[in-house]
This record gives sequence, C-alpha cells and structure tokens, in this order.
Amino acid sequence: MPRASHSKYAPFPRSKRPQGDHRARQPAHAYLLEVLPGLEPVAEEELRAVPLARDIRGLRFWYPGDPERLTRLRAPVAVFRVRAWDVPRPRGLLGHQQFAELTAFLAGVLRFGGHRSFRLAAAGRESSVMARLADELQAALQLPHDPEEGELLIRLRPQEDGPGWEVLARLTPRPLSARAWRVCNMGGGLNATIAYAMHRLAGVREEDRIFNPMSGSGTLLVERALLGPYAAMVGVDLNPEAVACARANLHAARRDVEVACVDALHTGLPPRSFDLIISDLPWGDAVGTHGDNAALYPAFLTEMHRLLSRQGRLVVLTHELRLFERVLREQERWYARELFQVYSGGHHPKAYLLSKR
Ligand SMILES: C[S@@+](CC[C@H](N)C(=O)[O-])C[C@H]1O[C@@H](n2cnc3c(N)ncnc32)[C@H](O)[C@@H]1O
Repeated sequence: MPRASHSKYAPFPRSKRPQGDHRARQPAHAYLLEVLPGLEPVAEEELRAVPLARDIRGLRFWYPGDPERLTRLRAPVAVFRVRAWDVPRPRGLLGHQQFAELTAFLAGVLRFGGHRSFRLAAAGRESSVMARLADELQAALQLPHDPEEGELLIRLRPQEDGPGWEVLARLTPRPLSARAWRVCNMGGGLNATIAYAMHRLAGVREEDRIFNPMSGSGTLLVERALLGPYAAMVGVDLNPEAVACARANLHAARRDVEVACVDALHTGLPPRSFDLIISDLPWGDAVGTHGDNAALYPAFLTEMHRLLSRQGRLVVLTHELRLFERVLREQERWYARELFQVYSGGHHPKAYLLSKR
C-alpha cells in the first residue's frame, strides 16, 4: 500500500522554476497539497485535472491561475502556497530583505483567504526567534497572533535537499476537509477526503443505483451527490439521530437524497437492487463493539451479496482489519482487493473493493 512519501515535502528548487513565467498574465506560485497519508495517488490524479497546474511533482506544483480553483480540490486536507529562502536558520527570515519578502508573500495569501489571525508551526516554535518572528509578523501584517487557533497556518521548515528554509502558508482559514456542508457531526464521522477517495476509486457512473448502508452523518452520501449524476441513491442507518444528521448535511449541501431509519440487514428490498454499495462499517470503537462486529460483518457480506447486481461493486471501509480479512477468507462468494490504507486521527482503516465471483 502507498505510504506517506517524503517526496510530498521535497523542496522546490528555484532552478525548477518553470520557463516562460514572464509570459503568464499572473505570476505562478508554488503550491503543496497536504493529504492524509495513503490518499496521495487520489490527490495527484485530482490535481492533474486542474487546468494550468504544471511541473507537478507528487503533490507539489506551480500554478498561475486563481487560487479559488485549488480550494475546490476534494482529496487534499489543505493547500499551501510555498516559498523558499536561502537562509541557514529561521533567524535569517528576520533580515531586512527576507522579512519584506516574507511579509509580501503572506499578504498575498491573506488577500485571497481573508484569514483573521495567524499561527506558526515549526520545530522549536517556543524559541525566542519564533517569538520575535511572531511579534514582527503581527505588526507588519496587522493580524493577531493566535498560537493555538490562528487561521493563517504558517509552517516553517528546512528544505530537504537545499540549504534554505521554506515557508508554507495555508490558503484557507479552515482545512479543505472541513466541508462547508458539514453542519452536523457524529462520533465516528468519516473524514470527507476519505469518502471522496472511496467514491473516486469505486468509479463514478451515471447509471449507478447506489446504496449506503450505515450512512451515519451522511459523509459518503454528500460526497457522492457532489460528484455528479447517478440513477438513484439511498442511505440507511439504525440510529435516528444519525439519520437526522445526514439529512441536515444533505440539506446544507443542497442535495436531495433519501435517508431512512432502517436496519441495513433487513431492508426488505428485492435482490440485485444496487450497482454500487458503499459503506463505512462500525469499527468497534467510537461506534459498535468488537463483539457485535463479529456477527455483523459476515451477515453484512451475505445481505449485500443479495442486494448487489451481478456486475456490481461493494466498497467497504473498516478498521477491524483482522476480523474483516478473516471473514473474507472464510467465504467464497466475493473477490476482494485492497484500494488503500489511510492514516487519519490515530486510525489506519483500509478500503476494499469487492465483486461477486
Ligand atoms: C462508522 S459509522 C458510519 C459513519 C459515517 N460514515 C459518517 O461519516 O458519519 C457506522 C454507522 O452504522 C450504523 N449501524 C450499525 N449497525 C447498523 C445496521 N444494522 N443497520 C443500519 N445502520 C447500522 C451506526 O448507527 C453508525 O451510524
């Protein structure tokens, strides 16, 4: 499985500056996508569809266009504008010329994002140099320094294959993974970038009849509804609070999708009702118990086999890896392959794609 690669943090040497910048109407800036480890390939593919993004190296790229386009990316957790300085240590950023350049760089990001405060993230952020940098930036940018909640997140770190330091400034006050549609959250709610990746890898097809059993706060429903047309889509959950929560999120996203308070294992629906079944199963910690899951998982696979069309796809996300893989080994009705393993919030769930044998 793909793991967090250091390449996403590789420096962007000035010698790599694309040729012909002078011909562009807007100056190109260097950017870096922050992505949950494991979802890099999905984010790279999404990035390649951005017109004008160029010199793409992993999750780094140059882009001369309106940054607003970058804030519509759905796989990354955040987008940072990046610039490097040939200084041996952060103190060098306080030099007259470097500080003027740094201020101009950050002001460009602030003009776009409208952040109302800033914070610094760096090794040794308690040091006297960092404290001085924070004071000077506060005065120069006329922006409050809020070390814990600052909206403009500024990361400082050494270049990995260069002598200098680079500064990364997050384009948006909140991470992109904090979706505007999320007006309701539940314990065990799925990170929206993971839901996006599951749909991308499951395939987005107009003709799909989609079922989202165990829909919780509706993350998989909303993310799919935002991806484009489908033939039909329905979510079910046993918990009435979760159903209300999913409905609120769908309403905020202005998407009309049916969610019902029904047991996913006893829907009473006819066989082969769906072409895509996609589910984030209870992981046995925030939701459900390991004991319950031992019975739930095999029953789930049996019922989903009945509900799925002959050529259909079943996509499952779980953190109960040993249980799920044992249940897979003990049955003969499904082919399964791993789509990704992602690291998020102390968990490392896997997504699987199953098809009928
Ligand atoms: C891991 S959570 C889903 C979280 C969801 N992906 C989200 O983003 O909020 C699992 C959900 O399965 C539901 N659930 C458990 N057993 C169920 C069953 N037999 N039928 C329907 N829902 C069930 C729980 O109520 C819970 O909301």
